[in-house]
Amino acid sequence: MAHSKMIPSDAGCLKPFFPYPGGKTADGRLHLAILDNLRPLVTMGREFRELFVGAGGIFLSLAPYLPTGHPVWLNDLDSSVICLWRAVRDWPEELAHEAKRLWNPCVKLVFHMHKQTKRYCDPDGDKDVVLNQAVSKLVRQHFTRAGGKERTPVKKNKLFSTVEESLMAAHQQLARLKVRLTALHFRDVVKVRGKACMYLDPTYFVNGRKNYRKYMKVAEHTELRDLLFNCAHPWLLSYDDCAAVRRLYDVSQFLPVLKDGREQSIRVQGRTDEVFLCSRKSGMNGKTYRELLLTTATVYRTINSQINSRL
Ligand SMILES: C[S@@+](CC[C@H](N)C(=O)[O-])C[C@H]1O[C@@H](n2cnc3c(N)ncnc32)[C@H](O)[C@@H]1O
Repeated sequence: MAHSKMIPSDAGCLKPFFPYPGGKTADGRLHLAILDNLRPLVTMGREFRELFVGAGGIFLSLAPYLPTGHPVWLNDLDSSVICLWRAVRDWPEELAHEAKRLWNPCVKLVFHMHKQTKRYCDPDGDKDVVLNQAVSKLVRQHFTRAGGKERTPVKKNKLFSTVEESLMAAHQQLARLKVRLTALHFRDVVKVRGKACMYLDPTYFVNGRKNYRKYMKVAEHTELRDLLFNCAHPWLLSYDDCAAVRRLYDVSQFLPVLKDGREQSIRVQGRTDEVFLCSRKSGMNGKTYRELLLTTATVYRTINSQINSRL
C-alpha cells in the first residue's frame, strides 16, 4: 500500500537523454498532473506501457520508483527512436563512445544523420546496424532545433558529459527493469492482453505532422479512441485541447474543469474523465498550447474510492 507514496512529485525524476518535441516534462504542472494520475495505476502491479514513448520523459520519471524487475513496454512507431532506446539499454558504453567521437558535428554530417534516421531499422536487428542508427539519432536530436524534424542543424556548444550522465542513468533503470522495446503501430500494443496500464501521448490532433516523422491521421485518432473505449487496461491520455479531441472523447466544451492540477476530477463526461487542463507557453516558439488529460472514468472512480477507503 505504501508503495504508491514512494513516487514523489518531480524531485528525483530522471531527465530525458535527448531533446524531443512534445515532451511532457517541460511544464512542471502538467508533469505533476500526469505523475499523480499514473501513480495509482502503475503501482497496482501492472505492466507499464508507454505507447508513444519518444524521449520517454514520463517513463524516466517513474522508473526509479518501480520495483526491480517490474515489467515495462516502451513503444514508438518511429524505429530510430526505439533503436536509440535499445542501444541505451544494451550497449550504453559503445553508444556513448561513438556519439562522443561525432559530437559537435558539421552541417553535412547532421544532414547525413538526418537522412539515415528516416530509414526503417529493425530495433531487434543486427547490433552494428542498430547501434549506427542509435548514434545518428542521438547526435541529430541534439543538434537540430529542440530535436524537431527539420534537417538543418543548429550550432550549439553542448557538452557531451551531461548527455552521457543522463544516458547512463537511463541505462541503469532500463537494465534494472524488465523492459520490452518495440516499433509497432499503437493498435498492436493496445490489443495485447495481460495485466497492464497505459500512458498514451499521441501526436497532436491539430498540426501533429509538423514535428514528427510518424504522425497520426484523423482516422487513426478515431481508431485510438475506439480501441481505448473497448480496452480492459486502465489508461491515461494526454492530448492537445481542441474541439476535435473534445468531440471525439465526448468532453464538455462549456464547463470549467480542473485547473492547475493537483485536485481530483469529480465530473464524468460519457466514458471519459477529464482530469486536468492547462495552458503552457512553449520555450521553443513562444506559442501557448492547451493540454488535456483524459482517463478511463470507471477505473478512475474505482481508484478514487480505493484511495478514499484508505484515508
Ligand atoms: C507527442 S510524441 C511523444 C512524446 C513523448 N511523450 C516524450 O515525452 O518525448 C508522439 C510520438 O508518437 C509516435 N507515433 C506517431 N504515430 C504513431 C503510431 N501510429 N503508433 C505509435 N507511435 C506513433 C511519434 O513517432 C512520436 O514519437
